[in-house]
Amino acid sequence: MNLSQKTFSSTLPTDIIFGVDSVKSNLPAKMKEFNKSKVFIGTDPGLVTAGIIDKIQTLLKDEGIDSVVFSEVEPNPHADTVMRGAQLYKNESCDMILAIGGGSAMDFTKAVGAVATNSGHILDYRRGKNTLSNEIPLLFCIPTTVGTGAEVTAVSVVTDSGAGRKYVVSSPLLIPKIAFVDPSLTKSLPNHVVASTGMDALVHAIEAYTGVKSTPITDGLALQAIKMLKENLPASYAHPDNLEARAQVHLASTIAGMAFGIAGVGLVHSCSHPMSALYQVPHGLANAVLLPYVLDYNLIANYKKYAEIARIFDSSLILENDMTAANELVVLIEQFNASVDIPADFGSTEKLFTEEMIHQLAEDAMDDIGTIPNNPRKVKKEDVIQIYKKVLPLSLTKGEPEKYLTMVNG
Ligand SMILES: [Fe+2]
Repeated sequence: MNLSQKTFSSTLPTDIIFGVDSVKSNLPAKMKEFNKSKVFIGTDPGLVTAGIIDKIQTLLKDEGIDSVVFSEVEPNPHADTVMRGAQLYKNESCDMILAIGGGSAMDFTKAVGAVATNSGHILDYRRGKNTLSNEIPLLFCIPTTVGTGAEVTAVSVVTDSGAGRKYVVSSPLLIPKIAFVDPSLTKSLPNHVVASTGMDALVHAIEAYTGVKSTPITDGLALQAIKMLKENLPASYAHPDNLEARAQVHLASTIAGMAFGIAGVGLVHSCSHPMSALYQVPHGLANAVLLPYVLDYNLIANYKKYAEIARIFDSSLILENDMTAANELVVLIEQFNASVDIPADFGSTEKLFTEEMIHQLAEDAMDDIGTIPNNPRKVKKEDVIQIYKKVLPLSLTKGEPEKYLTMVNG
Protein backbone atom coordinates (compact mmCIF):
# COMPACT_ATOMS: atom_id res chain seq x y z
CA MET A 1 0.00 0.00 0.00
CA ASN A 2 1.26 3.48 -0.85
CA LEU A 3 2.17 5.72 2.05
CA SER A 4 -0.38 8.31 0.92
CA GLN A 5 -3.12 5.71 1.51
CA LYS A 6 -1.98 4.77 5.02
CA THR A 7 -2.76 6.18 8.44
CA PHE A 8 -0.95 5.07 11.58
CA SER A 9 0.32 6.24 14.95
CA SER A 10 3.64 5.28 16.53
CA THR A 11 4.51 5.50 20.21
CA LEU A 12 7.87 4.58 21.70
CA PRO A 13 7.33 5.51 25.35
CA THR A 14 10.13 3.59 27.11
CA ASP A 15 13.21 5.55 28.23
CA ILE A 16 16.25 3.57 27.14
CA ILE A 17 19.41 3.92 29.17
CA PHE A 18 22.20 2.22 27.28
CA GLY A 19 25.82 1.61 28.19
CA VAL A 20 28.34 -0.73 29.77
CA ASP A 21 27.71 -0.62 33.55
CA SER A 22 24.64 1.59 33.04
CA VAL A 23 22.75 -0.40 35.72
CA LYS A 24 25.40 0.35 38.34
CA SER A 25 25.65 4.01 37.38
CA ASN A 26 21.99 4.85 36.85
CA LEU A 27 19.51 2.41 38.40
CA PRO A 28 19.35 3.67 42.04
CA ALA A 29 19.30 7.36 41.06
CA LYS A 30 16.57 6.81 38.45
CA MET A 31 14.43 4.84 40.91
CA LYS A 32 14.79 7.52 43.58
CA GLU A 33 13.36 10.12 41.20
CA PHE A 34 9.92 8.53 41.62
CA ASN A 35 9.79 8.76 45.44
CA LYS A 36 8.64 5.18 45.98
CA SER A 37 9.61 2.94 48.87
CA LYS A 38 9.76 -0.75 47.97
CA VAL A 39 10.52 -2.56 44.75
CA PHE A 40 9.37 -6.06 43.79
CA ILE A 41 12.18 -7.79 41.86
CA GLY A 42 11.12 -10.58 39.46
CA THR A 43 13.90 -12.85 38.28
CA ASP A 44 14.98 -16.45 37.77
CA PRO A 45 17.01 -18.71 40.09
CA GLY A 46 20.08 -18.64 37.80
CA LEU A 47 20.65 -14.92 38.34
CA VAL A 48 20.36 -15.36 42.10
CA THR A 49 23.00 -18.12 41.99
CA ALA A 50 25.21 -15.94 39.80
CA GLY A 51 25.17 -13.26 42.54
CA ILE A 52 23.70 -10.59 40.24
CA ILE A 53 20.51 -10.08 42.27
CA ASP A 54 22.43 -9.71 45.52
CA LYS A 55 24.62 -7.03 43.96
CA ILE A 56 21.62 -5.08 42.68
CA GLN A 57 19.79 -5.34 46.02
CA THR A 58 22.88 -3.96 47.78
CA LEU A 59 23.12 -1.16 45.21
CA LEU A 60 19.50 -0.22 45.94
CA LYS A 61 19.79 -0.59 49.71
CA ASP A 62 22.77 1.79 49.76
CA GLU A 63 20.42 4.40 48.32
CA GLY A 64 17.64 3.60 50.79
CA ILE A 65 15.47 1.56 48.43
CA ASP A 66 13.96 -1.54 49.99
CA SER A 67 13.34 -4.63 47.83
CA VAL A 68 11.82 -8.10 47.86
CA VAL A 69 12.84 -10.85 45.42
CA PHE A 70 10.63 -13.40 43.69
CA SER A 71 13.07 -15.75 41.96
CA GLU A 72 10.86 -18.66 40.94
CA VAL A 73 10.25 -17.48 37.38
CA GLU A 74 10.47 -20.45 35.04
CA PRO A 75 11.06 -20.40 31.27
CA ASN A 76 7.73 -19.56 29.61
CA PRO A 77 6.26 -18.26 32.91
CA HIS A 78 3.10 -19.96 34.12
CA ALA A 79 -0.09 -18.13 35.02
CA ASP A 80 0.03 -19.72 38.51
CA THR A 81 3.52 -18.32 39.08
CA VAL A 82 2.28 -14.87 38.05
CA MET A 83 -0.54 -15.07 40.58
CA ARG A 84 1.90 -16.11 43.35
CA GLY A 85 4.18 -13.22 42.42
CA ALA A 86 1.29 -10.75 42.54
CA GLN A 87 0.35 -12.03 46.00
CA LEU A 88 3.90 -11.39 47.23
CA TYR A 89 3.83 -7.90 45.67
CA LYS A 90 0.67 -7.10 47.65
CA ASN A 91 1.76 -8.80 50.90
CA GLU A 92 5.03 -6.84 50.90
CA SER A 93 3.30 -3.52 50.08
CA CYS A 94 5.56 -2.89 47.10
CA ASP A 95 5.01 0.18 44.92
CA MET A 96 7.27 -0.47 41.92
CA ILE A 97 8.57 -3.44 39.93
CA LEU A 98 11.96 -4.39 38.55
CA ALA A 99 12.50 -7.21 36.06
CA ILE A 100 16.00 -8.66 35.87
CA GLY A 101 16.49 -11.44 33.36
CA GLY A 102 15.41 -12.59 29.93
CA GLY A 103 12.02 -12.50 28.28
CA SER A 104 10.48 -14.79 30.87
CA ALA A 105 11.38 -12.51 33.81
CA MET A 106 10.14 -9.44 31.94
CA ASP A 107 6.90 -11.10 30.77
CA PHE A 108 6.35 -12.33 34.32
CA THR A 109 6.79 -8.91 35.92
CA LYS A 110 4.51 -7.23 33.38
CA ALA A 111 1.85 -9.80 34.23
CA VAL A 112 2.41 -9.32 37.99
CA GLY A 113 1.98 -5.58 37.44
CA ALA A 114 -1.26 -6.20 35.56
CA VAL A 115 -2.89 -8.19 38.36
CA ALA A 116 -1.42 -5.98 41.08
CA THR A 117 -3.67 -3.09 39.99
CA ASN A 118 -6.46 -4.89 38.07
CA SER A 119 -8.80 -7.40 39.68
CA GLY A 120 -9.12 -11.08 38.80
CA HIS A 121 -6.75 -13.63 37.23
CA ILE A 122 -4.04 -12.89 34.67
CA LEU A 123 -5.71 -15.16 32.09
CA ASP A 124 -8.84 -12.98 32.31
CA TYR A 125 -6.79 -10.41 30.39
CA ARG A 126 -5.46 -12.60 27.59
CA ARG A 127 -5.93 -11.32 24.06
CA GLY A 128 -9.57 -11.54 23.03
CA LYS A 129 -10.92 -11.37 26.61
CA ASN A 130 -10.93 -8.41 29.04
CA THR A 131 -8.70 -5.38 28.56
CA LEU A 132 -6.63 -3.89 31.35
CA SER A 133 -8.06 -0.63 32.60
CA ASN A 134 -5.78 0.45 35.48
CA GLU A 135 -2.18 1.67 35.16
CA ILE A 136 0.31 -0.97 36.31
CA PRO A 137 2.96 -0.03 38.92
CA LEU A 138 6.15 1.69 37.72
CA LEU A 139 8.05 -0.95 35.77
CA PHE A 140 11.80 -1.02 35.18
CA CYS A 141 13.47 -3.69 33.05
CA ILE A 142 17.03 -4.93 32.95
CA PRO A 143 17.38 -7.46 30.11
CA THR A 144 20.24 -9.88 30.78
CA THR A 145 19.80 -11.83 27.56
CA VAL A 146 19.24 -10.55 24.06
CA GLY A 147 16.38 -11.38 21.79
CA THR A 148 13.10 -10.75 23.45
CA GLY A 149 12.74 -6.98 23.21
CA ALA A 150 10.28 -7.31 26.09
CA GLU A 151 11.93 -4.29 27.74
CA VAL A 152 10.18 -2.01 25.23
CA THR A 153 7.03 -3.91 24.20
CA ALA A 154 3.41 -3.88 25.32
CA VAL A 155 2.98 -7.65 25.54
CA SER A 156 3.46 -10.40 28.08
CA VAL A 157 3.30 -14.06 27.13
CA VAL A 158 1.92 -16.31 29.86
CA THR A 159 1.56 -20.10 29.76
CA ASP A 160 -1.57 -21.84 30.94
CA SER A 161 0.10 -25.09 31.98
CA GLY A 162 -3.25 -26.86 32.40
CA ALA A 163 -4.29 -26.17 28.82
CA GLY A 164 -0.76 -26.42 27.39
CA ARG A 165 -1.20 -23.04 25.69
CA LYS A 166 0.70 -19.79 25.64
CA TYR A 167 -1.48 -16.70 25.85
CA VAL A 168 -0.65 -13.09 25.09
CA VAL A 169 -1.68 -10.27 27.37
CA SER A 170 -1.36 -7.07 25.38
CA SER A 171 -1.92 -3.49 26.50
CA PRO A 172 -0.09 -0.18 26.17
CA LEU A 173 -0.30 -0.13 29.98
CA LEU A 174 2.30 -2.94 30.09
CA ILE A 175 5.04 -0.92 28.40
CA PRO A 176 8.01 -0.56 30.80
CA LYS A 177 8.90 2.92 32.04
CA ILE A 178 12.69 2.55 31.78
CA ALA A 179 14.87 -0.12 30.15
CA PHE A 180 18.49 -0.40 31.24
CA VAL A 181 20.35 -1.95 28.32
CA ASP A 182 23.71 -2.87 29.83
CA PRO A 183 25.93 -5.08 27.62
CA SER A 184 28.17 -6.07 30.55
CA LEU A 185 25.32 -8.28 31.80
CA THR A 186 25.50 -10.46 28.69
CA LYS A 187 29.15 -11.43 29.26
CA SER A 188 28.34 -14.67 31.04
CA LEU A 189 25.61 -15.86 28.66
CA PRO A 190 26.17 -19.42 27.44
CA ASN A 191 27.05 -19.64 23.75
CA HIS A 192 23.91 -21.48 22.68
CA VAL A 193 21.78 -18.80 24.37
CA VAL A 194 23.67 -16.04 22.53
CA ALA A 195 22.93 -17.84 19.25
CA SER A 196 19.26 -18.61 19.78
CA THR A 197 18.27 -15.31 21.40
CA GLY A 198 20.27 -13.33 18.85
CA MET A 199 18.41 -15.16 16.10
CA ASP A 200 15.13 -14.39 17.87
CA ALA A 201 16.04 -10.68 17.65
CA LEU A 202 16.75 -11.14 13.93
CA VAL A 203 13.34 -12.79 13.49
CA HIS A 204 11.69 -9.85 15.28
CA ALA A 205 13.37 -7.40 12.94
CA ILE A 206 12.60 -9.40 9.76
CA GLU A 207 8.96 -10.01 10.73
CA ALA A 208 8.46 -6.36 11.73
CA TYR A 209 10.00 -5.19 8.44
CA THR A 210 7.91 -7.47 6.24
CA GLY A 211 4.64 -7.59 8.23
CA VAL A 212 1.48 -5.91 7.04
CA LYS A 213 1.58 -3.33 9.86
CA SER A 214 5.09 -2.12 8.99
CA THR A 215 5.57 1.63 8.47
CA PRO A 216 8.56 3.71 7.33
CA ILE A 217 9.28 4.37 11.02
CA THR A 218 9.41 0.70 11.97
CA ASP A 219 11.23 -0.14 8.72
CA GLY A 220 14.08 2.15 9.74
CA LEU A 221 14.37 0.50 13.14
CA ALA A 222 14.08 -3.02 11.73
CA LEU A 223 16.67 -2.55 8.99
CA GLN A 224 19.14 -1.04 11.46
CA ALA A 225 18.65 -4.01 13.80
CA ILE A 226 19.13 -6.50 10.93
CA LYS A 227 22.40 -4.78 9.91
CA MET A 228 23.77 -4.77 13.47
CA LEU A 229 22.86 -8.42 14.02
CA LYS A 230 24.27 -9.56 10.68
CA GLU A 231 27.57 -7.79 11.42
CA ASN A 232 27.92 -8.79 15.06
CA LEU A 233 26.03 -11.94 16.09
CA PRO A 234 28.68 -14.43 14.84
CA ALA A 235 31.47 -12.45 16.60
CA SER A 236 29.40 -12.23 19.78
CA TYR A 237 28.87 -16.00 19.60
CA ALA A 238 32.55 -16.65 18.90
CA HIS A 239 33.93 -14.94 22.01
CA PRO A 240 32.29 -13.73 25.24
CA ASP A 241 35.06 -11.14 25.72
CA ASN A 242 34.15 -9.36 22.50
CA LEU A 243 32.30 -6.64 24.38
CA GLU A 244 31.82 -4.52 21.25
CA ALA A 245 29.97 -7.36 19.49
CA ARG A 246 27.93 -8.08 22.64
CA ALA A 247 27.03 -4.36 22.90
CA GLN A 248 25.96 -4.19 19.25
CA VAL A 249 23.79 -7.31 19.57
CA HIS A 250 22.26 -6.18 22.87
CA LEU A 251 21.20 -2.81 21.49
CA ALA A 252 20.06 -4.36 18.19
CA SER A 253 17.74 -6.59 20.19
CA THR A 254 16.15 -3.55 21.85
CA ILE A 255 15.85 -1.74 18.50
CA ALA A 256 14.19 -4.83 16.99
CA GLY A 257 11.85 -4.80 20.01
CA MET A 258 10.91 -1.19 19.26
CA ALA A 259 10.14 -2.19 15.65
CA PHE A 260 8.00 -5.23 16.43
CA GLY A 261 6.41 -3.53 19.42
CA ILE A 262 4.64 -1.38 16.83
CA ALA A 263 4.66 -3.51 13.67
CA GLY A 264 4.16 -6.94 15.24
CA VAL A 265 5.59 -10.31 14.24
CA GLY A 266 4.33 -13.01 11.89
CA LEU A 267 4.27 -16.68 10.96
CA VAL A 268 7.63 -17.68 12.48
CA HIS A 269 6.20 -16.74 15.87
CA SER A 270 2.78 -18.27 15.12
CA CYS A 271 4.55 -21.61 14.51
CA SER A 272 7.03 -21.37 17.39
CA HIS A 273 4.53 -20.49 20.13
CA PRO A 274 2.77 -23.90 20.11
CA MET A 275 6.14 -25.70 19.93
CA SER A 276 7.17 -23.98 23.17
CA ALA A 277 3.79 -24.40 24.87
CA LEU A 278 3.30 -28.08 24.03
CA TYR A 279 6.88 -29.39 23.83
CA GLN A 280 8.97 -26.80 25.73
CA VAL A 281 11.16 -25.98 22.72
CA PRO A 282 13.07 -22.79 23.69
CA HIS A 283 11.49 -19.80 21.95
CA GLY A 284 14.63 -18.47 20.26
CA LEU A 285 15.72 -21.89 19.01
CA ALA A 286 12.28 -22.67 17.56
CA ASN A 287 12.23 -19.31 15.78
CA ALA A 288 15.75 -19.68 14.43
CA VAL A 289 15.07 -23.14 12.98
CA LEU A 290 11.71 -22.10 11.52
CA LEU A 291 12.98 -18.86 9.96
CA PRO A 292 14.35 -20.15 6.60
CA TYR A 293 11.26 -22.35 6.02
CA VAL A 294 8.86 -19.49 6.71
CA LEU A 295 10.91 -17.12 4.56
CA ASP A 296 10.72 -19.62 1.70
CA TYR A 297 6.94 -19.61 2.10
CA ASN A 298 6.60 -15.82 2.48
CA LEU A 299 8.96 -14.58 -0.27
CA ILE A 300 6.34 -14.25 -2.98
CA ALA A 301 4.33 -11.84 -0.84
CA ASN A 302 6.91 -9.05 -1.01
CA TYR A 303 9.99 -9.66 -3.18
CA LYS A 304 11.12 -6.07 -2.77
CA LYS A 305 11.44 -6.18 1.00
CA TYR A 306 12.95 -9.67 1.16
CA ALA A 307 15.46 -8.56 -1.51
CA GLU A 308 16.48 -5.63 0.72
CA ILE A 309 17.17 -8.04 3.58
CA ALA A 310 19.11 -10.39 1.27
CA ARG A 311 21.30 -7.46 0.15
CA ILE A 312 22.26 -6.79 3.79
CA PHE A 313 23.51 -10.37 4.01
CA ASP A 314 25.20 -10.33 0.58
CA SER A 315 25.97 -6.90 -0.83
CA SER A 316 26.73 -8.32 -4.30
CA LEU A 317 22.97 -8.88 -4.68
CA ILE A 318 22.60 -5.15 -5.30
CA LEU A 319 23.40 -6.06 -8.90
CA GLU A 320 20.45 -8.46 -9.10
CA ASN A 321 16.75 -7.72 -9.52
CA ASP A 322 14.42 -8.03 -6.52
CA MET A 323 13.09 -11.49 -7.31
CA THR A 324 16.55 -12.98 -7.82
CA ALA A 325 17.93 -11.30 -4.70
CA ALA A 326 14.93 -12.36 -2.56
CA ASN A 327 15.28 -15.96 -3.71
CA GLU A 328 18.84 -16.01 -2.32
CA LEU A 329 17.61 -15.09 1.16
CA VAL A 330 16.68 -18.62 2.29
CA VAL A 331 20.20 -19.96 1.66
CA LEU A 332 21.80 -16.86 3.20
CA ILE A 333 19.78 -17.32 6.40
CA GLU A 334 20.54 -21.06 6.47
CA GLN A 335 24.25 -20.19 6.29
CA PHE A 336 23.87 -17.55 8.98
CA ASN A 337 22.09 -20.04 11.25
CA ALA A 338 24.86 -22.57 10.61
CA SER A 339 27.53 -19.97 11.51
CA VAL A 340 26.15 -19.90 15.07
CA ASP A 341 25.51 -23.66 15.17
CA ILE A 342 21.72 -23.53 14.92
CA PRO A 343 20.54 -26.89 13.51
CA ALA A 344 18.82 -26.96 10.10
CA ASP A 345 15.81 -28.79 11.59
CA PHE A 346 14.77 -30.81 14.65
CA GLY A 347 15.58 -34.12 12.91
CA SER A 348 18.11 -35.09 15.57
CA THR A 349 15.67 -34.86 18.50
CA GLU A 350 14.45 -38.19 19.84
CA LYS A 351 10.78 -37.27 19.93
CA LEU A 352 8.80 -38.30 16.87
CA PHE A 353 5.74 -36.35 15.78
CA THR A 354 2.57 -38.04 14.57
CA GLU A 355 0.02 -36.59 12.13
CA GLU A 356 -2.23 -35.79 15.10
CA MET A 357 0.50 -33.88 16.90
CA ILE A 358 1.33 -31.89 13.76
CA HIS A 359 -2.36 -31.07 13.26
CA GLN A 360 -2.67 -29.90 16.86
CA LEU A 361 0.39 -27.67 16.44
CA ALA A 362 -1.00 -26.23 13.21
CA GLU A 363 -4.39 -25.59 14.77
CA ASP A 364 -2.80 -23.71 17.68
CA ALA A 365 -0.56 -21.76 15.28
CA MET A 366 -3.59 -20.67 13.21
CA ASP A 367 -5.25 -19.63 16.47
CA ASP A 368 -2.32 -17.30 17.33
CA ILE A 369 -4.43 -14.25 16.63
CA GLY A 370 -1.74 -11.74 17.52
CA THR A 371 0.60 -12.92 14.75
CA ILE A 372 -1.26 -14.74 11.93
CA PRO A 373 -3.10 -11.65 10.59
CA ASN A 374 0.18 -9.72 10.45
CA ASN A 375 1.99 -12.19 8.19
CA PRO A 376 2.76 -10.81 4.71
CA ARG A 377 1.32 -13.93 3.04
CA LYS A 378 -2.22 -15.01 3.94
CA VAL A 379 -1.71 -18.22 5.90
CA LYS A 380 -3.64 -21.47 5.38
CA LYS A 381 -3.57 -24.30 7.90
CA GLU A 382 -2.37 -26.74 5.24
CA ASP A 383 0.67 -24.53 4.63
CA VAL A 384 1.50 -24.51 8.35
CA ILE A 385 1.25 -28.31 8.42
CA GLN A 386 3.77 -28.49 5.56
CA ILE A 387 6.18 -26.16 7.40
CA TYR A 388 5.97 -28.29 10.56
CA LYS A 389 6.56 -31.44 8.53
CA LYS A 390 9.79 -29.96 7.19
CA VAL A 391 11.24 -29.06 10.60
CA LEU A 392 9.99 -31.81 12.92
CA PRO A 393 10.99 -35.49 12.93
CA LEU A 394 7.93 -37.46 11.85
CA SER A 395 6.66 -40.77 13.05
CA LEU A 396 5.86 -43.19 10.24
CA THR A 397 2.57 -44.58 11.48
CA LYS A 398 0.15 -46.83 9.65
CA GLY A 399 -1.18 -45.26 6.49
CA GLU A 400 1.34 -42.46 6.33
CA PRO A 401 3.03 -41.92 2.99
CA GLU A 402 6.66 -42.88 2.71
CA LYS A 403 7.74 -39.44 1.61
CA TYR A 404 7.79 -38.36 5.26
CA LEU A 405 10.67 -40.72 5.91
CA THR A 406 12.58 -39.25 2.99
CA MET A 407 11.99 -35.84 4.48
CA VAL A 408 13.31 -36.85 7.87
CA ASN A 409 16.38 -38.47 6.39
CA GLY A 410 17.12 -35.41 4.33
FE1 LIG B 1 10.39 -13.73 19.72
